[in-house]
Amino acid sequence: MHRIRVYQGDITQLAVDAIVNAANSALNGGGGVDGAIHRAAGPQLMEACLTLNGCPTGQVKMTHGFELPARYVLHAVGPIWQGGDHGEADLLASCYRNAMTMAAAEQFQSIAFPAISCGVYRFPPDQAVDIAVRETVKALASNENLEDVVFCCFDEAMAERYRQKLHVPQGGSEGEGSA
Ligand code: APR
Repeated sequence: MHRIRVYQGDITQLAVDAIVNAANSALNGGGGVDGAIHRAAGPQLMEACLTLNGCPTGQVKMTHGFELPARYVLHAVGPIWQGGDHGEADLLASCYRNAMTMAAAEQFQSIAFPAISCGVYRFPPDQAVDIAVRETVKALASNENLEDVVFCCFDEAMAERYRQKLHVPQGGSEGEGSA
């Protein structure tokens, strides 16, 4: 049975088939979750990323996880929020869709997403959570293999947004989604 859950903490600690990175289009590292993933994966991750010729916004490219507990990293490039009339919602949806398509192609059983674009890229969090949940639920309907989809949030406020959207009891650190 498919499970969607909310986890508050550091995505680099998760032993899943793939963690998703909130990368930039040069795939050359940065701060936030991107910086944390590169630090935890070790220098081979940067070497691998720099062979990929960047990644357009809304798209996803895959590398190994190297020293991470996760086997793979799916580098997704979210949109920079520019007021909402520059296709930001579609581009963010495309990140989740493409990551879920890749997970299906690779027959992954587990995947963890950070809140793509919700940090430095300033996407409004409520709208981002709606998009993240909508696209993953839609993709799960046609994926028999994926058993564990984790929305990994660094901070409590963001975790609570996902819990509300997924109808997980308030304050629960983890739980089943019913969206
Ligand atoms: N684990 C899980 N979530 C994290 C972690 C972590 N270790 N570190 C930060 N986050 C959360 C932030 O709290 C935020 O909610 O990830 C979300 C995304 O924030 P950013 O990392 O700033 O990503 P984004 O807004 O997509 O901006 C991408 O930031 O570092 C650069 O190279 C990156 O240029 C790109 C930009």
